[in-house]
Amino acid sequence: MKVLIVGSGGREHTLAWKLRQSPLVSELFIAPGNGGTATEGTNVPISDSDVHGLVAFATDNGINLVVAGPEAPLVAGLTDAMDAAGVPCFGPDAFAANLEGSKSFAKTVMRDAGVPTAAFEVFTDFAAAKAHVESRPLPMVLKADGLAAGKGVVVAKTRQEARDALDEMMKQRVFGAAGDKVVVEDALVGEEASFLAFCDGSTAVCMPSSQDHKPIGEGDTGPNTGGMGAYSPAPVLPAADLEKTADLCIRPILRRMAELGHPFKGVLYAGLMYTASGPMVLEYNVRFGDPECQPLLSRLDSDLAAIMLACIKGELPAADVRWSTDTAICVVMAAAGYPKSYPKGMAISGIPAAEALGRVKVFHAGTKASENGAVTSGGRVLGVTALGPDLKSAQALAYRAVDLVQFDNSYVRRDIGNKGIGR
Ligand SMILES: Nc1ncnc2c1ncn2[C@@H]1O[C@H](COP(=O)(O)OP(=O)(O)O)[C@@H](O)[C@H]1O
Ligand SMILES: [Mg+2]
Repeated sequence: MKVLIVGSGGREHTLAWKLRQSPLVSELFIAPGNGGTATEGTNVPISDSDVHGLVAFATDNGINLVVAGPEAPLVAGLTDAMDAAGVPCFGPDAFAANLEGSKSFAKTVMRDAGVPTAAFEVFTDFAAAKAHVESRPLPMVLKADGLAAGKGVVVAKTRQEARDALDEMMKQRVFGAAGDKVVVEDALVGEEASFLAFCDGSTAVCMPSSQDHKPIGEGDTGPNTGGMGAYSPAPVLPAADLEKTADLCIRPILRRMAELGHPFKGVLYAGLMYTASGPMVLEYNVRFGDPECQPLLSRLDSDLAAIMLACIKGELPAADVRWSTDTAICVVMAAAGYPKSYPKGMAISGIPAAEALGRVKVFHAGTKASENGAVTSGGRVLGVTALGPDLKSAQALAYRAVDLVQFDNSYVRRDIGNKGIGR
């Protein structure tokens, strides 16, 4: 089977690494890929947003399975376009991808499906939104409706922060059309966890829990990033609670999407907040998280290609989905300055030494291949991923590995996993 992975981050290197282990996969292409994916398969210079180019490549090259890494191509209709061309594509159609592509759509589906989530209202009119923001208790949360690369949510602690956020979204249009509609919701308090499931339209198979670390600084301080590290399982959501959590926040969504005529196929990711009254859904994503993908797939003992085909065919109940009982942790090595401006083009060394520790895999994110090996090309550069019998030993191994990898001006958070150890 020939497989085309779409995307260029740490998640896509992880997908390539895992899919290459499948006996079903004979050839692997990654569009556009990075310095790490180039060692797992063949990088193809097509942007992940170029749906027409991707379809042309898939049909010209007899691709048997397309795997979408990021959300944008799914929201733009990659699966629909591949379907029309007769190429199986892992990931929801554009309508179902709106669970991530439109916050108001997701909230409405949650409400209709009876999924616990913060109380909310949706606005397209600035004056009405302004009046609402003036009257609501603080803190309150404002969300630009459309895709905003993880920057479209503001948890406002003061009235002025809420006013400013609304102004930026609806008046200054800093997120473009994504902010023409705004969701205003109640703030929830608690610990966050990521809960992902493979879905085939009607059946959901749980993945183990995981936890991301969004802020740049230790102790969850400073501006949000794409994610500075993740580990799995997250003790806040133990294995014994996975099925009931799927009954609460995944299976009702599958039933509702089927009723709406767009059964959800692919990975459904619920961003949960563990509040005093139990877990509530903050948002859905329609693909693997990056970096949650790195620890999750490091723990998958089964054939990912077979699972993905089963999702597409509606045959998930017959699929073999087994997970290792180990803990996995991914520590992101970033370029200093990220998430603002940062240097690029630094040479990377020490990856073989890190992997020689055993039970360590260094996934590439913002790297590109050069004549002298991989060099940095992005803010999040590498995801150093380690396995261990428990979180403490996995964490210790991951940081030993991190200390063997070098590039100029590297930055890591030293507290990835501490929340889980604290429990
Ligand atoms: N209702 C809420 N109450 C408290 N914090 C929230 C709420 N909604 C979102 N957040 C915080 O904002 C972050 C981003 O919101 P999310 O809905 O996940 O959007 P996105 O990932 O698309 O930016 C969450 O991870 C959480 O920390
Ligand atoms: Mg989120």
